[in-house]
Amino acid sequence: MKILVTGGLGFIGSHTVVELLQNNFDVCIIDNLANSKMSTVDNITAITNKKPKVYCFDVCDSAKTKEVFSTERPDAVIHFAGLKAVGESCEKPLLYYHVNIDATLSVLNAMDSVPTCKSIIFASSATVYGVPNSLPLTETSPIQDATSPYGETKIINERILQDWAKVNPQKSAIILRYFNPIGAHPSGLLGEDPNGVPNNLMPYVTRVATKQAPYLKINGNDYDTLDGTAIRDYIHVVDLARGHVLALNKLKDFRGVYICNLGSGKGTSVLELINAYKKATGVDFKVEFGPKRAGDVPANFASIDKAKRELGFECKYTLEDACKHAYMYQLKHI
Ligand code: WQD
Repeated sequence: MKILVTGGLGFIGSHTVVELLQNNFDVCIIDNLANSKMSTVDNITAITNKKPKVYCFDVCDSAKTKEVFSTERPDAVIHFAGLKAVGESCEKPLLYYHVNIDATLSVLNAMDSVPTCKSIIFASSATVYGVPNSLPLTETSPIQDATSPYGETKIINERILQDWAKVNPQKSAIILRYFNPIGAHPSGLLGEDPNGVPNNLMPYVTRVATKQAPYLKINGNDYDTLDGTAIRDYIHVVDLARGHVLALNKLKDFRGVYICNLGSGKGTSVLELINAYKKATGVDFKVEFGPKRAGDVPANFASIDKAKRELGFECKYTLEDACKHAYMYQLKHI
């Protein structure tokens, strides 16, 4: 089977490409390098001994995208390409609506031109659940107003896929709702290395642990949680990537819309993650408490019963593994 991966050189995309290649899928990539590097394909090759073809352009360019689909004739698509910084989306909403929606429309239009391209897996996010009414979050938990334009684009994309699937009954739209992807490939060759100051907790902790930032500011310690800090569901990026291979294999004959959470199924507070990081790496570092961050939810974590039952999904890595892998990757890329 040939899989076309948009955003395949990004953090989650590159780890997924590795798992696909190691499971004998053929892979080609479209990536505009807005938040990734061309050298990542060499690291993918170093791990898998296979070199996927990379087309470097913006997948919002629907003519070029259609051309690649016509050349490559993929059997399925995994669509990661898009902008994902929550804070930036609040400053530049029009950019986020343009990129994240037009990219999906471009991919779906290209899929329509290749009858044998049967499935799309879409990278959605737990952010579509908004502020949870109850936990853990299941796939039937209500979709609520997003707390950012970024989150809104995920909700809109899910609706687009629902409507597209209605007029393409012979195809499938698989919506995977990611919780908080963290960590790096155990080889130390792939990882998360955001440009500029990281928005997310794990890459920021890693910058502090590797002495690239003086201390970690914890956004709020007066939440209604055990230790007062916010709770999230952190999943190792390789476990997340493996979830995509399971979805492709288990759902190849599925038709219609399939929605599934991908997380660890556990809630971890900011302080618990910090303590796990220090234990896993043996590195101590300074933390300070600051005010809550606008738009944050106090707590969210996934029920992954559906993924376990229907896809055979299991997390193989622990929180400590993710901390250690992130740290080791960063040490090689300072
Ligand atoms: C986690 C917790 C922060 C940095 C977002 C998106 C989600 C996905 C992952 C793209 C929060 C706190 C953080 C810091 C801190 N994005 N924190 N100090 O906000 O749960 O999810 O990123 O795929 O869709 O919504 O993740 O890592 O930013 O924050 O205290 O320096 O860590 O306030 O409570 P979040 P995060």
